[in-house]
Amino acid sequence: MSELHPDLARVILSEEEIQERVKELAAQISADYADAERIYLIGILKGAFIFLADLCRHLTIPHIVDFMSVSSYGRSGAVSGAVRLMLDLREPIRDEHVIIVEDIVDTGHTLDYINHTLQGREPTSMRTCALLEKKRESLEVPVDYLGFTIPDFWVVGYGLDYADTHRTLPFVAELKPEAYQ
Ligand code: PRP
Repeated sequence: MSELHPDLARVILSEEEIQERVKELAAQISADYADAERIYLIGILKGAFIFLADLCRHLTIPHIVDFMSVSSYGRSGAVSGAVRLMLDLREPIRDEHVIIVEDIVDTGHTLDYINHTLQGREPTSMRTCALLEKKRESLEVPVDYLGFTIPDFWVVGYGLDYADTHRTLPFVAELKPEAYQ
């Protein structure tokens, strides 16, 4: 394996571990919705685009992919929890089976906001799927399909970034504190 970038402390999840888990999640979702006409996968930009791309290609059931984007304030400092919608879905999701797809649940504010926003649009059902959830104090947002629980430090790769860098690494790695402090 090539050397880690000097800003990275260690690999938390290897490419193989991630790919294996993504396949398992897709199999679980495909089984759970086997009787549904189709499902609606909603990826939260930017972080979820890689996870969603891999996840949906392992599904064996009909599905539609769409995206939302939000901006939030105070993520790494004083966490205000204020979330603002930047990009909305193209179509209504009324009477659809919806799964919100996130790369990571950190404070939980993003998923909580999206959850509440989309519930109001009267989908038939709504569940959440996240590759990662941090072990920390966060909002009580249920994650129905979870890839991994990770320690509470800054991680990058597989969609996750630091100032838009390291996002396309195939693995998830811990960012050295000196890289962002
Ligand atoms: C990250 C991540 C989640 C959110 C989780 O997005 O992709 O959407 O933070 O954090 P929370 O649980 O504390 O709300 P970010 O705002 O960094 O934007 P990006 O995905 O565009 O990089």
